[in-house]
Amino acid sequence: MEIEILPTKVFALDFLANITAQHSELELKLTKLKSLSLYGSETRQYLFQLNVLIGYVSAHFATEEKLMQNFDYQMFLKHKQNHSDFLNKLTNFSNDIVEGKMTNLNTVTTFIEFWFEKHDLDFDIALESFMTKVAV
Ligand SMILES: [Fe+2]
Repeated sequence: MEIEILPTKVFALDFLANITAQHSELELKLTKLKSLSLYGSETRQYLFQLNVLIGYVSAHFATEEKLMQNFDYQMFLKHKQNHSDFLNKLTNFSNDIVEGKMTNLNTVTTFIEFWFEKHDLDFDIALESFMTKVAV
């Protein structure tokens, strides 16, 4: 007997695999940023890594948002707003570093670290649990 797998389930499983991989990549990028701010580095090295992180975060958010929209996810707008606020904040940090208005790189790293933890608790855990229900 063949097992029938519905397209939405395949999509949900694929999403969960992608998100898990992207979260691991984000952790690696954050660890790199942390090591640059903890062990001292040139500001331009830090700025480069921060911009790499911004690019990756932006693509990651787009993945989550596309999915939430496809599944008419209830928390979509709030979740998306939280993403946009964070991206704006990161862009401001990046500009402030370029303009010399932000010199304490640890402050930036700590904010990012804290934001990821809080976002996970407030939004991503619920989204992943929703997708897990769709997948099984
Ligand atoms: Fe998210």
